[in-house]
Amino acid sequence: MWQIFWNNIRRTKRNFSQEEGHALHRVLGARDLTMLGIAAIIGGGIFSSVGQACASGGPGVIFLFILCAIACGFAALCYAEFSSRIPVAGSAYTYAYASFGELFAWIIGWALLMEYSIGNIYVAFSWSGYFTHLMENLGVHIPAWLSTDYASCSVAAASGNVDLQSREMLAWNQAPVILGLRMILDLPALAINVLITWLVFTGIKESRNASNIMVAIKLIVIVLIIGVGILHVDTANFKPFLPEGFGGVMAGVSAVFFTFIGFDAVSTMAEETKDPQRNLPKGMFYSLLICTVLYILISLVLTGMMPYKLLGVDDPLASALAYKGIVWLEYIVSISAVVAMASVLLVFQMGQPRIWMSMSRDGLLPKKFSEVHPRYKTPGFSTIITGLVVGIPILFTDEKFVLDFTSIGTLFAFVLVCGGVLLLPARKKEQGAFNLPYFKPVFLPIILLAIQVCIYVFSEKYFFSQFHDLGLLFYWSLMLILSVLGIIKNWNLIPLLGLAACGYLLTGMSANNWFWFFSWFGIGLLVYFAYGYRKSKLARG
Ligand code: ALA
Repeated sequence: MWQIFWNNIRRTKRNFSQEEGHALHRVLGARDLTMLGIAAIIGGGIFSSVGQACASGGPGVIFLFILCAIACGFAALCYAEFSSRIPVAGSAYTYAYASFGELFAWIIGWALLMEYSIGNIYVAFSWSGYFTHLMENLGVHIPAWLSTDYASCSVAAASGNVDLQSREMLAWNQAPVILGLRMILDLPALAINVLITWLVFTGIKESRNASNIMVAIKLIVIVLIIGVGILHVDTANFKPFLPEGFGGVMAGVSAVFFTFIGFDAVSTMAEETKDPQRNLPKGMFYSLLICTVLYILISLVLTGMMPYKLLGVDDPLASALAYKGIVWLEYIVSISAVVAMASVLLVFQMGQPRIWMSMSRDGLLPKKFSEVHPRYKTPGFSTIITGLVVGIPILFTDEKFVLDFTSIGTLFAFVLVCGGVLLLPARKKEQGAFNLPYFKPVFLPIILLAIQVCIYVFSEKYFFSQFHDLGLLFYWSLMLILSVLGIIKNWNLIPLLGLAACGYLLTGMSANNWFWFFSWFGIGLLVYFAYGYRKSKLARG
């Protein structure tokens, strides 16, 4: 096992050094990485999707934020352990390559495509929503058929039971028809994708500067909303705190988890980072910590400002401010949402090509994917392909689908990262690098049992409902197996808890989500066996 690991590491590094003639610029420090992490984390989630989570869970949605933060925290610890051992770009993909081998690495690379590219489709849609709203306030009208996605409109039209004044129906009825086809497309979403692709294509330094400014703006505005919002909280809105029970809270799992996605994007910047063994873990932790605190505060402020049911809109922050008549801030929020989401797009659009670059070095993708542009020193071809992978589906997918798809794919990637750490051989503590602390695995069953006791004490109904839910039954059985295996093999508690937390969030996914997830993996395996399996460096020896 250890031998395989070290061989893989050696090969990963060799593949990397063969490309050193095309090395990327090492310009990023811990502060830049923290800023990049925040740039990727705070975006479409907190400005848009979180509204649905508040509407289904009420003020108790704060528990879901805490749960997601815990899951991401453990995953971040595992990422940090990996990234301090393998400071090569590629995120979880590279780590899986080192610990599980080629096939699993391909699977994780395929899952990361869901996180980075598909996630960016959701953010582009949300960006477009806020942008159109902002333009409207400035007196520039963008017709609904030019700012709505085709899929939502055709679903609305087919249902026949939708408000004729809704954006979708307006778009459907007003769109010009050419050759029998309604010309409905989300033009602002497409335009921002082209702009961001161009920015990323032209250079990491320019991207970093743009990103730092955007992050500063959104942090100021989020803090401002919290500060002003606290003064308008009506504690009556907190009663009851869990109006729909814990089931209602868990219904928002995709929306809330999506708000945290992005801290791992920092690890794709390894080759552009100074002293990556120290700076990558710092960048991940600082950004995750800052965002968690802000999210918990903002979810309390939101659900305290207005009745939770009214928050199920695309722009919950602006709506809560409008509800309390704080119009001046509503305007600022719309502007900053546009900025915040652009920065998320930027970081993810930088991350995806770097993952493909690593996959190409290992021979799992054609060589073209790892070519670095001679002038801009960025992975030019991969960047353009990323732009296409994000841009084309904007024409025919809808927001809800991509939100679920992204969250399930990312959670799966985190599960594999935590699992990967379990398989790493022990090593001596290295000075200056991140070292994952070791805790005994016997605490896993103790912690899980304590959680069950707490659930029983706080909600007997929820405790018993677990035994009627197939997904939860499966989950608790897996946890039992993991506890026993962990003790037998003396695994570290931290990755075990990462698996437990991410696995629990996965139980919140619907059967439909799983169907699309497995279909996506089927396609991924076909692609692997048609190309990577035969062409990889491993296959060629
Ligand atoms: N966490 C990122 C966002 O909310 C993906 O936009």
